Amino acid sequence: MTIKFNPILGTLFVVVATVILRVSDAQGGRKGAIVGGWNPITNLTDPEVVEIGKFAVDEHNKEVKTKLEFQKITNGESQVVAGINYRLVISAKDGDSPHNYLAEVWDKPWEKFRNLTSFGECSLENGEQQCMLT
Ligand SMILES: *[C@@H]1O[C@H](CO)[C@@H](O)[C@H](O)[C@H]1NC(C)=O
Ligand SMILES: *[C@@H]1O[C@H](CO)[C@@H](O)[C@H](O)[C@H]1NC(C)=O
Repeated sequence: MTIKFNPILGTLFVVVATVILRVSDAQGGRKGAIVGGWNPITNLTDPEVVEIGKFAVDEHNKEVKTKLEFQKITNGESQVVAGINYRLVISAKDGDSPHNYLAEVWDKPWEKFRNLTSFGECSLENGEQQCMLT
């Protein structure tokens, strides 16, 4: 799968963007698209990445009082910026139905700092997954 993002405006703290994820099955494998220093996460079951994903869902639940249930990471990128910025496509259950969400988490392990900077729902439009970062 190839993951492509529109250029992001603003800073890492204020992210207002539409993100387009294109799914390509040309090779059946994941191909790295490096956009502005974002690198694809190759192992989506890496416990560290899964932890970030769960954190994103938990935080989002706290912030807007939803009860999303983390299921798995389906895609992701990371960027090294005084710590690591993660951008993950997360599958989570909203009641009975699974949905995809796009989350951004800023992690600075040595300061024990971890913040959910953005969380938005994805929808499928014309076969393309579109996610809103708010
Ligand atoms: C991904 O990471 C997990 C945990 O570290 C490991 O068990 C698994 O083998 C890794 N998978 C791949 C494809 O590297
Ligand atoms: C975490 O991110 C949110 C959203 O960007 C921001 O409002 C908040 O101030 C941040 N918290 C910290 C401790 O930086």
